Amino acid sequence: PVIYLKDYLPPAFLADKVELTFDLYPNQTRVKSAIYFTRNEKRESGLPLELHGADLKLISLSLDGQSVSDDRYVLSDDQLVITEVPDRFLFEAEVEIDPANNTSLEGLYRSNTMFCTQCEAEGFRKITYYPDRPDVMSSFTTTVIADKTEYPVLLSNGNPVDKGELDNNRHFVTWQDPFHKPAYLFALVAGDLKLVKDSFTTMSGREVALEIWVEPENLSKCDHAMLSLKNAMKWDEEVYGREYDLDIYMIVAVNDFNMGAMENKGLNIFNSSCVLARADTATDMAFQRIEGVVAHEYFHNWSGNRVTCRDWFQLSLKEGFTVYRDQCFSADMNDAAVKRIEDVSMLRTAQFAEDAGPTAHPVRPDHFIEISNFYTLTIYEKGSEVVRMIANLLGPDLFRKGSDLYFERHDGQAVTVEDFVAAMSEVSGIDFEQFMRWYSQAGTPQLDVSDHYDAETKQYHLTIRQMTPVTKDQQDKLPLHIPVKTGLLNTDGQDIPLILVQGEASGQQGDTDRVLHLREAEQTFIFDQIPDAPVPSLLRGFSAPVKLSFPYSQQQLLHLMRHDSDGFNRWDAGQRLAVDALQTMVSEFESGRVPELDSGLVEAWRNLLGSDLSPAILAEMLSLPEEAYLGEQYDVIPVDGIHACRRIARKTLAQALESELRTCLETHQLSGPYKPDADDIGKRRLNNTCLSYLMTLETAEITERVWQQFNQADNMTDQQAALTMLVHSGQDEKAREALEQFEQQWQQDALVMDMWFQVQARRPQPDALARVKALMSHPGFSLKNPNKVRSLVGAYCGQNRVNFHGLDGHSYRFLADVVLELDQMNPQIASRLITPLTRWQKFDAKRQQMMQTELQRIAQAELSNDLYEVISKALP
Ligand code: ARG
Ligand code: ZN
Repeated sequence: PVIYLKDYLPPAFLADKVELTFDLYPNQTRVKSAIYFTRNEKRESGLPLELHGADLKLISLSLDGQSVSDDRYVLSDDQLVITEVPDRFLFEAEVEIDPANNTSLEGLYRSNTMFCTQCEAEGFRKITYYPDRPDVMSSFTTTVIADKTEYPVLLSNGNPVDKGELDNNRHFVTWQDPFHKPAYLFALVAGDLKLVKDSFTTMSGREVALEIWVEPENLSKCDHAMLSLKNAMKWDEEVYGREYDLDIYMIVAVNDFNMGAMENKGLNIFNSSCVLARADTATDMAFQRIEGVVAHEYFHNWSGNRVTCRDWFQLSLKEGFTVYRDQCFSADMNDAAVKRIEDVSMLRTAQFAEDAGPTAHPVRPDHFIEISNFYTLTIYEKGSEVVRMIANLLGPDLFRKGSDLYFERHDGQAVTVEDFVAAMSEVSGIDFEQFMRWYSQAGTPQLDVSDHYDAETKQYHLTIRQMTPVTKDQQDKLPLHIPVKTGLLNTDGQDIPLILVQGEASGQQGDTDRVLHLREAEQTFIFDQIPDAPVPSLLRGFSAPVKLSFPYSQQQLLHLMRHDSDGFNRWDAGQRLAVDALQTMVSEFESGRVPELDSGLVEAWRNLLGSDLSPAILAEMLSLPEEAYLGEQYDVIPVDGIHACRRIARKTLAQALESELRTCLETHQLSGPYKPDADDIGKRRLNNTCLSYLMTLETAEITERVWQQFNQADNMTDQQAALTMLVHSGQDEKAREALEQFEQQWQQDALVMDMWFQVQARRPQPDALARVKALMSHPGFSLKNPNKVRSLVGAYCGQNRVNFHGLDGHSYRFLADVVLELDQMNPQIASRLITPLTRWQKFDAKRQQMMQTELQRIAQAELSNDLYEVISKALP
């Protein structure tokens, strides 16, 4: 059944108060609920009570203490409907559920020996009958009963208010959450967990207990998450004026989790991969991800929990805004330019691909079958870009005023995107009418820019055309309001003061940066008093989530790379240069010639190595665009050509710049103990970038050096980088040795083993599929654990393009088989894992044919809603 935004109606009943009692047993947990309902005045009188429920066994049912007879209610697979109810009443029910056999990891389930929950978006209905929709907000009191020995720790939302001993070695704890919340923010955890404790004093002087609960062996891996949490709490006070509200904030790490983490009120539940880190077990990337995710979940306490979504079509209201908040936080904690480069790279590869594929949807979708399918890069990352555009249009002070107004006005409410934008519009006077199309129109806008310099009048013309391609569900696209931040560089590389005489822009005349407001399908902006033909620096800081093309010459790109005052565009100019060079090589490759790397690129990279750029930026600039990003530049992706040419290019660069790379390596050696701060992360990244270039030379000396690093590193960043270099090199003997040793060293640590699976899944050698298949029988692998599935199957199908798209079609068949099996256990993971097969439009006829065959084969089976929705969109 398809659900439409236009059909939204307020709930017929509101829940004033909810009391829950859980009697926990692995296979037969009893859940008692007492819910105080009141008819909603916003709806007509006499409506029946309709509650959601799935996989529940109803034990008893009563209204105002009277048991409800069979003829007064209707029970179906997903609903309980009671036909005649008064305007106010107490609803009580008891149900039985089976957490141990809940492999969907939604609702109440088991992870190892603990009980935990995941209720967003619609998992609460797997716990008990309830109006499971975000616009029904209530206060919850939760009593958890369990065996004292096996589950000494019993947690739920809010504050502990009671506890005690019961018969049969059982005990209970009662939790009360005073804040009204939708059911998706409910959480419960029970297990034999150990505590890392700290505290935070809020800006108004209140003391908040901070608790991270983990399995005993992980106690030494919580410091970084705790530090990140305290930094996030401080940052939200300083930047948004937001203070934490409860007296306690808990984080629990669980091994089996569908997503990254969940912002349940006062009790965040995290995928262990997003909390646990120690220098010797986690990479720099993991440290930074933890910092970002901990902050993200914390920030949700205001953007998501205090102010929540009216319905799930508004998901980006909380996710886009919260991603924007966590991105700004990470930028402040680390190197802001590097953070922006990373975020934009991800958007341009993965989100742009989603926007161009069969599951393309707007930031605010208007229909869905299964909302779980919409926790996407579009909702999160493009949603964040939309908020970033709003923030940039307002400037920091007005944006803060707008967010203050939004939080104040809607505290305790479930609201819409319009409410957010209205607050921003009110404080600024800006008209967002046209801008709202960013929320409703899917697809990545394409900007085609051309210029003209008039030496007579000393005027410079920039003509920008915008076009949003049609997407699966939307044929007609209207022009968007697109902020194009622009600078003009003179021949010395300096920014020219900008005097605009035609076209709308923010900023002052004479500023060197102006935000051009593109509103029409085509518009010309004219700048006055430009002494010589300039080089335009367009879309500075990536001011809008669009594709931009401008006929840059190599000379112009080199000029921007060297001089642009905008760090992001300096990097981007280098990437454009590399894309051009690689595309030329791919054409040669395709026509059977031997591809050669443009010497202009070699010289540009030589210049980089001799420049005074910071190690972190230098590492970014030296990195060639990923295969996935290169593929995005084509209508039909030349998979083999891209892979081969990128390898040749890397080797050519290594040969030409060997001594520069060696010097770079020697000058950035680190000293002292491991620190995951921006400087050291930048240096490690630069060193490993240089080393991996040198590794392409395949000399015994470099291999030995990498082997030494593999053996002697005091941190996982360097060990893992070395492992990857060894395993991905052509030297099979070394690869085998390194993998064996690594496994010996880390087989007890599931998160480290995820990396071990991943590095093999991404191996470019043609034995990759055979290995992946073999590894699925490894004792450390399990199809039931999402992290394992992502590390092995996900990494192979999503990141090992050259093998996944092998012309025998074996990998397509493999993925379809895995997805069919997985759909029986965990539909959410199955419907995500299938993504690479849904992108057949971008491949040649032979591959398209094979991919479609597999999709059709899947379509024949009995599918979950999740997988059905994706498959039906992806079928030709
Ligand atoms: N709200 C969570 C976050 O972004 C995501 C959880 C969604 N989970 C799911 N199974 N759909 O922080
Ligand atoms: Zn979120």
